[in-house]
Amino acid sequence: KRIAVFASGNGSNFQAILDANKSGALNAKVALLVCDRSDAFAIERAEKEGVPAFVFNPKNFFDKAAYESDILEYLETMKIDFIALAGYMRLVGSTLLEKYEGRIVNIHPSLLPEFPGKDAIGQALTAAADKTGATVHFVDSGMDTGQIIAQESVTIEPGETRETLQKKIQQIEHTLYPAVIEKLLNGTKETIQ
Ligand code: GRF
Repeated sequence: KRIAVFASGNGSNFQAILDANKSGALNAKVALLVCDRSDAFAIERAEKEGVPAFVFNPKNFFDKAAYESDILEYLETMKIDFIALAGYMRLVGSTLLEKYEGRIVNIHPSLLPEFPGKDAIGQALTAAADKTGATVHFVDSGMDTGQIIAQESVTIEPGETRETLQKKIQQIEHTLYPAVIEKLLNGTKETIQ
């Protein structure tokens, strides 16, 4: 199977997927990075690993349908079977969903349905929650509303800061996300539960 990863920033989850691929934990070809910011560090990671990148500026397009149809063209040219969003800071629109719904997943830094949307880590701290975590879910047209596939929790300790909590969550994300993608692509239905 051939995967495209969509990222807008640092791309540490993209890196975790690449590393899992190299170690043999993930049996799939990471064939494309799609990125909506030309200054994203994820692009450097792609270059270093020899992964082609489609970088676009949404401002140069009339609307979401316009840039998504360009993305779609790339996905089809590159024969992409599966999309993993990894810090992609945009809602996926109908152009991509029509072709890929059920084959697009996202990772979100909370135990959904708690703390959807932006700054999930800040939301958890403000709410004084005693735990939070990471969720892998299918992507639909809503904001972090698609069917949940897997979750893992972390404890919020007294004195926890945004930095320490983010670090803990990212650590679990980097193992959880590639493992879930492997199960979805190569596992049996039972192993996904
Ligand atoms: C991750 O924490 C992910 O849960 C959220 O955005 C962050 C992306 O981090 N959707 P990175 O770019 O993969 O380092």
